[in-house]
Amino acid sequence: MANIDVRRGRIRPAPESFLSDEQIATVGGGRRDFLRKAFLTASAAMAAPVVARAATSGDPAILELPIWSTTLGMPVAASPYGMPSKYERGLQRRESPGLTRVGGSSVAFTPLQGLFGIITPSGLHFERHHQGWHDIDPSRHRLMINGLVKTQAVFTMDDIMRLPSVSRIHFIECGANTGMEWGNVAVPTVQYSHGMLSCSEFTGVPLKEILDMCGADYKKGRYVLAEGADGSSMTRTIPMELIESGEVLVAYGMNGEMLRPENGYPLRLVVPGVQGVSWVKWLRRIEVGDQPWATKDEAVHYIDLMPDGQHRQYTSVQECKSVITTPSGGQLLLDKGFYNISGMAWSGRGKITRVDVSTDGGINWRQARLETPVLSKAITRFNIDWVWDGKPAIVQSRAVDDSAYVQPGYGQLRTVRGTKSIYHNNAIQSWKVVESGEVSNVQVL
Ligand code: MTE
Repeated sequence: MANIDVRRGRIRPAPESFLSDEQIATVGGGRRDFLRKAFLTASAAMAAPVVARAATSGDPAILELPIWSTTLGMPVAASPYGMPSKYERGLQRRESPGLTRVGGSSVAFTPLQGLFGIITPSGLHFERHHQGWHDIDPSRHRLMINGLVKTQAVFTMDDIMRLPSVSRIHFIECGANTGMEWGNVAVPTVQYSHGMLSCSEFTGVPLKEILDMCGADYKKGRYVLAEGADGSSMTRTIPMELIESGEVLVAYGMNGEMLRPENGYPLRLVVPGVQGVSWVKWLRRIEVGDQPWATKDEAVHYIDLMPDGQHRQYTSVQECKSVITTPSGGQLLLDKGFYNISGMAWSGRGKITRVDVSTDGGINWRQARLETPVLSKAITRFNIDWVWDGKPAIVQSRAVDDSAYVQPGYGQLRTVRGTKSIYHNNAIQSWKVVESGEVSNVQVL
């Protein structure tokens, strides 16, 4: 790491923070090296012999033994299903105020700015429901297979969970992610601009195995219809090639446990690389057919309004995209110095092969480090060093996937797609840093 010797800058993450308001005010109020001084004083005190160390001459956080070092801690299983620290309570899924009129047909965004690595904790997985969610009794849940099959069948959860299973890590992104930004900047933080994105390890049975068991007619039956058990009767057409690839799963597991109710418990479809709407939750029926169904969720919604006024249907694959999560909108760089720029890249077509980062609004680019694992149709974490000199900057990331597709800028994307769409916005995201250290959402053409 080239710049590790440079004095490290401090950041106030957004919207949660464990730096106190007082600490932030002190740094922002002119004594910008307050935190560094506090650290140096503490280190000097540590270096002195124990007897010479007076509680008043150093950092009380080191010199005064806290309650957790002097008393008995909580017993095991005090929290039988573990919860995050109370100090992390600001990290939450959040609903964008005023986005939708009723909570049952809405979205809660994942706080990408607070996550590490590539896996989304299950409790922070984004939620998108058309008609609310239920905690379905798995003993009463059924999966029906019908249409162009030799033997129609109904599976219980027990039937499905006794079949050979696989576990795979994949991202899911709603086609409407970043949809509010088509015309112009609309939201302040990465949670709202990109938070309809999560990545988990899913466990289940390849749909191909289940269709084989039922004797699907793969010659005539080139499509399947997936249907959910919720009140919205969510139905989506999935092309048979995707199922024949073995990638589409009938999944019951997420991150080592059963799916969460909000995310489709007890059964959902996992369609790697394809927009979230096709990942039908509370999956109750698969029909094999010879043509697309053009249901409401594919004829009226989840379509792209092109500049010539035509609607484009069945834009399923989520194209290559990336976003910097640190620093990002709403955060505050408290001091000049070293920062680890960190972000996420993903592609519905395969693996990420490269991410370039610019700190001057796209004039110069440097190649970021891709952290392992780099998996197909999963989030890839990238990092790169940056020394902020206190001057205005615009940070951006641009991802490339193994089909050689390069993530477009807003200018390029709008030339092809116009500005009136809702879905499939994969443009390069720009975050502007001003001299005060404030970071905000901007668009660079
Ligand atoms: N499946 C059903 N049955 N009902 C729904 O409302 N929403 C879809 C899809 N599957 C939905 C559904 C949409 S639009 C998306 S983006 C994803 O589920 C969201 O999955 P999540 O809530 O687990 O993040």
